[in-house]
Amino acid sequence: MTENLVRDYYTQSVRQEWRRLVKDAYHHLEFETTLHFLEKYLPKQGLILDAGGGPGRYTLELARRGYRMVLLDMTPANLEFARRQIKRSRLQGQVERVIEGSIVDLSRFADHTFDAVICLGGPLSHVLDQRKREKAIAELSRVNKPGAPLFVSVMSRLSVMVIELMIAPHEFEEPFFKSLRDQGDYFGGFGFTACHFFLPEEFADAFRSQGIDILEMAGLEGIGSRHNKKINALAKNELRWRVWLETHFQTCTHPAVIGMSEHMLLVGKKV
Ligand SMILES: C[S@@+](CC[C@H](N)C(=O)[O-])C[C@H]1O[C@@H](n2cnc3c(N)ncnc32)[C@H](O)[C@@H]1O
Repeated sequence: MTENLVRDYYTQSVRQEWRRLVKDAYHHLEFETTLHFLEKYLPKQGLILDAGGGPGRYTLELARRGYRMVLLDMTPANLEFARRQIKRSRLQGQVERVIEGSIVDLSRFADHTFDAVICLGGPLSHVLDQRKREKAIAELSRVNKPGAPLFVSVMSRLSVMVIELMIAPHEFEEPFFKSLRDQGDYFGGFGFTACHFFLPEEFADAFRSQGIDILEMAGLEGIGSRHNKKINALAKNELRWRVWLETHFQTCTHPAVIGMSEHMLLVGKKV
């Protein structure tokens, strides 16, 4: 069961996952760019479902901004960690529920419960079965109010080819590589857990085919994707970094940049 593999992986990496989005300038781009689009499309207030929210980085950030939050994840260790962070930050009043569950089955929530739904940093990529992915998209949309924004980010197939080239070209000889390249499916065992890596058009079609309008897509690491060292060095120079961020935000919605970015974000709306 790939779900057990995924849960085991995230159980072992709670702190790593909590640090991931703030650990350096490169990773912070994913966070900052996502927040940029959240600010652009979220209503001013309301109840938000953070589906696959892990240790709660976005739940805490949005709770701090005054939203009421429900955090759902399938890894109990992440949820325990999140509960402690919520308490420490005195945000219990804003976070209504912290629940163990899967994005594939949100039947505990009635239709049209939320003013927005977020599913960020790849939970949908960890659903390996295509029909279950379709179900997850249908569920994320069903629990959202009509017209409410849905934010989903996933891992990119084109970008993972680049990392293979950069750090693991010997894996081109492994049988798994062709499945990764041709179907986007990776079943774990070589440093990361089971994951479906999306092509940008596949990502968009998966939502359009379920009657979800795409408001915008973006590459979260953008044009600097996979250039971790260069980005981290650049961030030390205030002036150059400011120009880079301007460049990043000007280019991150370009179709060529979306597809090559490590994480791709889609903002959708149910029609
Ligand atoms: C890379 S983390 C992202 C966490 C958080 N959204 C963020 O961006 O910081 C992926 C999370 O997805 C969760 N996950 C994977 N498959 C899931 C599923 N089917 N349902 C709910 N959560 C899932 C994992 O437990 C993990 O916490």
